[in-house]
Amino acid sequence: NAEAIAPKAEGYLLLGVIGCPVAQSKSPLMHGAALKEMGLEGSYVPLHVEPERLGETIAAMRTLGFRGFNVTIPHKLAIMDYLDDVDERAREIGAVNTVLNEGGRLKGYNTDGIGYVRSLKAEAAPELAGKRAVVIGAGGAARGIVDALLRENPASVTIVNRDAAKAASLADAMASRGRVAALGTDKLQEAASAADILINTTSVGMYPQESATPIPAEWIPGGIVVSDLIYNPLETRMLREAAQRGCTVHGGLGMFVYQGAYALEYWTGRPAPAGVMREALLRNFG
Ligand code: ATR
Repeated sequence: NAEAIAPKAEGYLLLGVIGCPVAQSKSPLMHGAALKEMGLEGSYVPLHVEPERLGETIAAMRTLGFRGFNVTIPHKLAIMDYLDDVDERAREIGAVNTVLNEGGRLKGYNTDGIGYVRSLKAEAAPELAGKRAVVIGAGGAARGIVDALLRENPASVTIVNRDAAKAASLADAMASRGRVAALGTDKLQEAASAADILINTTSVGMYPQESATPIPAEWIPGGIVVSDLIYNPLETRMLREAAQRGCTVHGGLGMFVYQGAYALEYWTGRPAPAGVMREALLRNFG
């Protein structure tokens, strides 16, 4: 690993996102609005990086003195090989979505799960302690979310997945941290009936399959908190049906905003303007 050039504290702030594809990413728009609001001179650039060019790209970013960058599909795991250090939480989750250049050393973090929980608490469920959470899905997104939920001291987290073995393996990995159970989708109705908070982490219901839902409406208990990571559409069928049943609903836009807000706070050491970031996204969707 070539040594990274330390970015100047008071200089031009060079930030970006690496992914493949990356053209659809809303991060440049969101961070651009944030930098402007914070009065910082800098840029947040989308970089299309093929997997086989990941190493040389990171070397180039070191040379250019990037202060930090986000990492998206398909590099969240592979990036770890090119960093000087990986935060313990990101290592546990098995994915890095944020890199910080600390005086020439590149360190990886994961802000997806903590971003999700910050948004859930701010927008729908201020108190998670003692609550029973049911998480549908056991993929990459679920890993970060289960990790972050367990830090809030819930009564239990139940992972329900089509592939029950995958749910079990995620539950095993998190078992030392709190009460975690794993079930197959055949037990979804039973699990949901005991939920205080129901969270969809799968892509079921995402554009262009908006008519799909991960759970039949009649299995959603009235009055609980129902949360969907999907933000396209802003209101999924699951959320619409949950609202009709008197539930408090929480969409995926907040997770996207706060994972970005945490990243920006690592890079700048200052509070990120989450409201302005959300507004920039909503204007773009509207
Ligand atoms: P992400 O990083 O977004 O979580 P992922 O790691 O590919 O993406 O995980 C996708 C999750 O959505 C998985 O839990 C997957 O279920 P399986 O593990 O059984 O494959 C779930 N998922 C995707 N499409 C689904 C569908 N049509 N029905 C049910 N679950 C689905």
